[in-house]
Amino acid sequence: MSSRPSTSLGAPARSAATLFPPLLAWYDRHRRTLPWRAPAGTRPDPYHVLVSELMLQQTTVATVVKRFDAFIERFPSLEALAAAPLDEVLHAWQGLGYYRRARGLHACARTVIDDHGGRLPTDPTALEALPGLGPYTAAAIASIAYARPVLAVDANVERVLARLFAVETPLPEARSALRRLAQGLAPERRPGDTVQALMDLGSMVCRPRGPACLACPLRDHCAGHASGLAAALPRKAPKRARPGRVATVFHLTRADGAVLFRRRPDQGMLAGLVELPSTPWTDEPPSAAAIDAAAPAACAWVPVAGGVRHVFTHFALELSILRGRLDDDGALREQAPLWRTPAAFGTLALPTLTRKLLAHVAGPER
Ligand code: ADE
Repeated sequence: MSSRPSTSLGAPARSAATLFPPLLAWYDRHRRTLPWRAPAGTRPDPYHVLVSELMLQQTTVATVVKRFDAFIERFPSLEALAAAPLDEVLHAWQGLGYYRRARGLHACARTVIDDHGGRLPTDPTALEALPGLGPYTAAAIASIAYARPVLAVDANVERVLARLFAVETPLPEARSALRRLAQGLAPERRPGDTVQALMDLGSMVCRPRGPACLACPLRDHCAGHASGLAAALPRKAPKRARPGRVATVFHLTRADGAVLFRRRPDQGMLAGLVELPSTPWTDEPPSAAAIDAAAPAACAWVPVAGGVRHVFTHFALELSILRGRLDDDGALREQAPLWRTPAAFGTLALPTLTRKLLAHVAGPER
């Protein structure tokens, strides 16, 4: 006879009281050492939690591990971050993608300084009211930095819950049910460790493909494991095909080797970042007239072999490149030309897409 707790139906009970003690015991032995985490038994710096949680949204732990310390060195406190110009923050965010989060982080730091006396609120609802923070980040900060008994639900936690409770509704429809399950699992003891234990379990054991159920501290409580469904959960609604967009990019150089850039508008995708001039991103390839109209100078344009593909969340962009040399400044059409020599590229807030284009043009064959 199993001695594990049962419901009236004989299924293993899945509650905070039954799940979290074995989970925390596992975490104490197997937790990942990560730069934003405090040593066991101590509280982390709330500012570090804020920065790491914003970095970790849609960026892998491995990438954030490489970038976190340098960011903190550059902006050691909430005050330092709030006092820095946005451009510097965007520049330090290069390679982490989704610059909206960097703008949100900066706006959040300024609001905390201006409206909250420089201290992050501790309550999830007050945190969620800050710019840049959503329900997930607010719950993660409240639990990890301030020991509030809330369970932040990221993709790892979603997967663990879907398996533990054998939720067969596909994502994204299952999301509200998974949130309700999380609300019923308020971690009263060591909330920050509990949340991070679920994250670590999701990444190390309850992996998306090939869950290592034999190594799982929650196996005896897991309805997905009991029914042999764990690996198939969470189910996902079929994805709609990602639409494609196309554009032609212009790589214009001056006699001194400087390359022409332009700044993107302050609103919309990659807002305020610096890019190479291009035709608008459209569904159909640009016509010769559209290319002509978008060219930043009237000069002899030469196609660069191969193109660059960049995948954004909602569409994939295929870019062809034209190279030109500006020998006569009078032929320049760009209203706000931004010339930078390759040695100064590092000072620009360049999105990954632009860095890919520059690397392609500078490629070994050219
Ligand atoms: N993903 C998001 N937040 C995390 C954290 N605190 N630890 C590990 N992975 C995470």
